[in-house]
Amino acid sequence: MQTCTTIADLRTAVRAEKQAGHSIAFVPTMGNLHEGHLDLIRHAREVGDCVVASIFVNPLQFGPQEDLANYPRTLQDDRASLAAEGVALLFTPTVEEIYPQGQESQTIVNVPGLASILCGAHRPIHFSGVTTVVSKLFNIVAPDYALFGEKDYQQLIIIRRMSEDLSYPIKIIGVPTARAEDGLALSSRNSYLSSEQRKTAPRLRQVLLALKDKLAQQIDTVKALESEGAAILTRAGFELDYLAVRDATTLGVINGKSRAAVILVAARLGKTRLIDNVTVMLA
Ligand code: PAJ
Repeated sequence: MQTCTTIADLRTAVRAEKQAGHSIAFVPTMGNLHEGHLDLIRHAREVGDCVVASIFVNPLQFGPQEDLANYPRTLQDDRASLAAEGVALLFTPTVEEIYPQGQESQTIVNVPGLASILCGAHRPIHFSGVTTVVSKLFNIVAPDYALFGEKDYQQLIIIRRMSEDLSYPIKIIGVPTARAEDGLALSSRNSYLSSEQRKTAPRLRQVLLALKDKLAQQIDTVKALESEGAAILTRAGFELDYLAVRDATTLGVINGKSRAAVILVAARLGKTRLIDNVTVMLA
């Protein structure tokens, strides 16, 4: 595995792969890799000839009160995991390499509407930070495929939309959520949980699955399901940001044309913010 820290070196390495006739599958990450990230890498190996991964803790997507300074950084271990999974190129730029003019005057890529609902309503600058860095990474890596986890469902939908709107010739692939045995979605932020909180955390998934059954069988209205789920989680000790049933493609409210729904939740246990979702086919 070759590691590049500059845009110029990464471009040279990708060019050589392309000249050899290899297609490029790209997996952007912020590091502290777990099985969820490694699943993305394995899928990437199936779709492309050459897998490029990036590790960059993107300051632009963290709010002022968020965990940028404490975000777990484990580059040595991450590098070993990626090499073992057959990644050909790893891009680990510095903040200065990505934002050489500073962050204040950086051109911003934003998907209005989608970026301000659900998680965006609670993290105002988050998604514009994500789309800005992902659009830069797309321009730097110029992959044929880019893979994102369904765990960050809204992020996946927003990146699909950005890619379409900006005519990126890149196929965006969503990968199912990797989970711990008790169902908790794997996340770098799970390491912040106390052992007590870690025991409560799988309730998030359990409640989503119960709501999924009821939605599929049309037992309750959407509004009733949303308040029921919220009440159960609040009683279990979560502080809810939102629990919402939406159209799985547009993230708008369900209507007659919706073919699938997604139930999304964001909730805090103490200071740790957890998200999860489940999709439901509608009859
Ligand atoms: P990060 O949180 O490191 O996640 C990198 C990728 O791994 C994302 O596509 C995310 O959805 C996926 N992922 C995380 N946990 C997962 C799980 N349990 N199962 C499946 N996939 C999972 O998401 C980001 O970084 C950043 O916003 C980024 C896109 C890199 C832009 O900075």
